[in-house]
Amino acid sequence: MSAFFLKKCSFSAKNYLFLFFLAEYFFGKMSKRKQKKLADLQQMPNVFQNFNWEAAELQNYKGEKVHFQGNWSEKVFKNNAPIVLELGCGYGEYTMAMAQQFPEVNFIGIDIKGPRLWTGAKYLLDNQLDNAVFIRSNVELVPQIFAPNEISEIWIPFPDPYSRKSKSQKRLTSERFLKYYEQILIPDGLLHLKTDSDLLYEFTLKTIDALNCRLLINYKDVYKEHPNKNDVLNVKTRYEQLNLSGADSIKYVRFQLWGKVDS
Ligand SMILES: C[S@@+](CC[C@H](N)C(=O)[O-])C[C@H]1O[C@@H](n2cnc3c(N)ncnc32)[C@H](O)[C@@H]1O
Repeated sequence: MSAFFLKKCSFSAKNYLFLFFLAEYFFGKMSKRKQKKLADLQQMPNVFQNFNWEAAELQNYKGEKVHFQGNWSEKVFKNNAPIVLELGCGYGEYTMAMAQQFPEVNFIGIDIKGPRLWTGAKYLLDNQLDNAVFIRSNVELVPQIFAPNEISEIWIPFPDPYSRKSKSQKRLTSERFLKYYEQILIPDGLLHLKTDSDLLYEFTLKTIDALNCRLLINYKDVYKEHPNKNDVLNVKTRYEQLNLSGADSIKYVRFQLWGKVDS
């Protein structure tokens, strides 16, 4: 029946149908892989997932509701070490690298995309790194997930630049997000931004200035300007390697809020 239909079609229609079936086959395979990762993620003891995008209701791998606000170090990591967050962590390269390099610190990577988190969570399990976990949630909920002063540092590697001005408050370094971070960071807590986007870099510098935050380091070309070629600043995430913006330099900004963001 379909062969008869193809014979009747013009050459370009046949090509179109071929491409359609190829795409369906390819995307079908991809989505099966993603579904498998999501199912795996559900079983991972180092992942906490939020299925309610309006409020923080985290579930553990047993499907139990968990509430660790103010007690992440004690209840999850069983220590009193400081906690460092990686926001919009994607595959979690910074969480993986820092957990390995700094065993005396706790790390938490947060992203909404489960199949990406799977890569980081599997790496932590395979390498028995128990000083790091992942949370699948939107970043907007961090003030409900953590308590005041619970977080000592925040890393934001290659956040989506949201190039349209109307979407600027979705940028993870916008005033809106800095206000969320202010609610969970220790007073002298550090924020680190690494980006290939000139737009996001300039936007962040303007926000830092407008809110009287304290700019500590500003590299226009981190690989030229940063003196230490072996520390975590040299970690290259998936999006850094993709270089979607076609940038010829990677920017890095370190700053502190100093509690000066008006609430
Ligand atoms: C451009 S990717 C970068 C991923 C990773 N940091 C890297 O460098 O490869 C941005 C990531 O941020 C996540 N993201 C963006 N906005 C978010 C939000 N509001 N809450 C949680 N994740 C978010 C996306 O799901 C995506 O994985």
